[in-house]
Amino acid sequence: MKLLGLGCGRRMGNSEILMKEALMAAEATGDIEVELIHLHDLKIKPCTGCEKCTMSMSKGGTGECFQKDDMRFLKQKFTECDGLIISAPVFELRPPGLYCIMNDRFLGFGPQYLMSVFQRPKRAGALISVGGSDWVQLALPQMNLAMFMLNFKVVDQFQEMWTGRPGHTLFHEEALARANQLGKNVAEAMKKPPAEMAFKGDDPGICPFCHSNLLLTRGKNVVECPICAIRGDLALKDGEITVNWSAEDIRMIKWEPLGMGEHFKHIMERHVYFEENKESLKPRLDKYRVYKSYSLPPKAEEAESQVQEEG
Ligand SMILES: Cc1cc2nc3c(=O)[nH]c(=O)nc-3n(C[C@H](O)[C@H](O)[C@H](O)COP(=O)(O)O)c2cc1C
Repeated sequence: MKLLGLGCGRRMGNSEILMKEALMAAEATGDIEVELIHLHDLKIKPCTGCEKCTMSMSKGGTGECFQKDDMRFLKQKFTECDGLIISAPVFELRPPGLYCIMNDRFLGFGPQYLMSVFQRPKRAGALISVGGSDWVQLALPQMNLAMFMLNFKVVDQFQEMWTGRPGHTLFHEEALARANQLGKNVAEAMKKPPAEMAFKGDDPGICPFCHSNLLLTRGKNVVECPICAIRGDLALKDGEITVNWSAEDIRMIKWEPLGMGEHFKHIMERHVYFEENKESLKPRLDKYRVYKSYSLPPKAEEAESQVQEEG
């Protein structure tokens, strides 16, 4: 079985060390072959927002992104592996921009591919997040999105904190032990049928699907998980916050084939409406097209002489 480790931090940084600790532990359980990818080694262009992928889907195409870069390599590696561990630092409370750029490009794998991934049995995934402080609130919830888009079940995750300088995590024996356990948990899950893969994270969280503790308030006592978009009624039970989640929302959750299929169907319906009515927009668009022009930075030489003048 193949276990892929995707490191998204500095080379020999904390997230890489913890990921390698997890991978070594997984490998030591036997029958697991490990492959490593360092996100910074890859050339990944940002999504341009052209929507060729979703437009192609509406016309029956594969919807694969036109950009030729290392996302194709990554797609192949994600397809081949039986398990995935992603480890990343925290930048501004959440995973780094490069992680988000990669995640944005998943849509460009093509909606047809994404739907095919949802026909496959779920595979085991796990997440490690490392912050230099305790400003980490959005990191793991956001990192889950990449796993869910590719139909991995996150069987374990943990947040390391107060670990700023590269190698700092080696002072934290408990973090290394936790990473080691995470590796074993992933290995164990990889060897089980999907229905038997249990969540082994430290905190079950409030959302039964993504295990995050984030809640959006939606008026009165209604709350929503911002990752899974399921809603429920908030209540206090013996002084503890509980949510009575809507069974229908859970049935249609967007990270399962039914909900994902509905999501793509709704996008296609909007595309059809747009294509049928777009001519009527033309005169109205002009108002915005002619409104002012954008400011641009000075060209390199001008910027250089400006700095010299100022200095
Ligand atoms: C631009 C930038 C933003 C950061 N923002 C946060 C933050 O919001 N919260 C936090 O806990 N750590 C933050 N950090 C610290 C890193 O998460 C920390 O140094 C981590 O160990 C880096 O992981 P690595 O060694 O795997 O690269 C930030 C670091 C950088 C460079």
